[in-house]
Amino acid sequence: MAACSAPGKIILFGEHAVVFGEPALAVAINLRTTARGDLAKEWSVNGLPLQDPHYKYVRNAVERSGTIGPLSMTVQSTIPEGSGMGSSAAVTVATLGALHESGHPAEPDLIASEAFDVEHNVQGRASPIDTSTSTHGHAVLVLKNRGPGFLWRLQKGERQWYLHHRDIPPMTFVVGHTGLEAATGPLVEKVRAFCEKNAEGRNMIVEIGQITLDGTEAMGKKDWVAVGSLMDRNHELLNALGVGHDKLDQFVAAAKPFSYGAKLTGAGGGGSMIALTDKPDEVARAIEAAGGRAFKVMTGQRGMEVISQ
Ligand code: MEV
Repeated sequence: MAACSAPGKIILFGEHAVVFGEPALAVAINLRTTARGDLAKEWSVNGLPLQDPHYKYVRNAVERSGTIGPLSMTVQSTIPEGSGMGSSAAVTVATLGALHESGHPAEPDLIASEAFDVEHNVQGRASPIDTSTSTHGHAVLVLKNRGPGFLWRLQKGERQWYLHHRDIPPMTFVVGHTGLEAATGPLVEKVRAFCEKNAEGRNMIVEIGQITLDGTEAMGKKDWVAVGSLMDRNHELLNALGVGHDKLDQFVAAAKPFSYGAKLTGAGGGGSMIALTDKPDEVARAIEAAGGRAFKVMTGQRGMEVISQ
């Protein structure tokens, strides 16, 4: 028997742009997924066949890792699915961790690389930010070149990403979940198609990359006012790229009077927004009054870890 856990994440800056290879910053949050594997006569997940469409990330992880088996897998998560908080990445990373622990334990860079392959397989065009943040934890900064805090480099075709550890101060964010599950793959494809036809789309992608760099620097200086206004601009650009949603705008407007800044997080099209605030209770109440589900999440979380063997 082997069990692993892996955290969810929120993207503070740079979603969608990171798929094009631009910088992005994500943090692990205190919502987690656990996966456990027990030797069995045939493969199963939570009592269902491995082929069950609900468990495509688990099935792909089993195929990708080539682990011995069969195993009866048990996967449990506190991360709402399709919420923009990295539920599929956490399922993939925790499953790969448990599979490797059942056979040959793997280093985080191998888990991150396999998890990215799985996400790419299932989702289509993707970046490694969600899976690498779930693997490493803490804060992960994606850059175009290798710099201080370098963790690993991942590549797909022409595109490559250099993943870095970042120390950021412990922070509380309020996440406002619309309750609308939005599949990431079609939203990523929508942005690709928009940018292929529109030069201003490509300029927005580049501007988002610069916002990530400026936002990371402002965070290092604890300049929350600057961080907040960069979040606001990032939100406008994501709306202009076509991945916004009326409910996200309503929650952003509700959070604003009590926040430094607010933006959608993850793929958009539903899912969730985040607000940076030192009045989390007021923000949570405002989001719930606007019809959302609010979560107070904390940064500074560990990445994938083995919880038993
Ligand atoms: C989804 O959490 C983040 C996106 O940038 C997609 C990806 O990076 O694969 C929208």
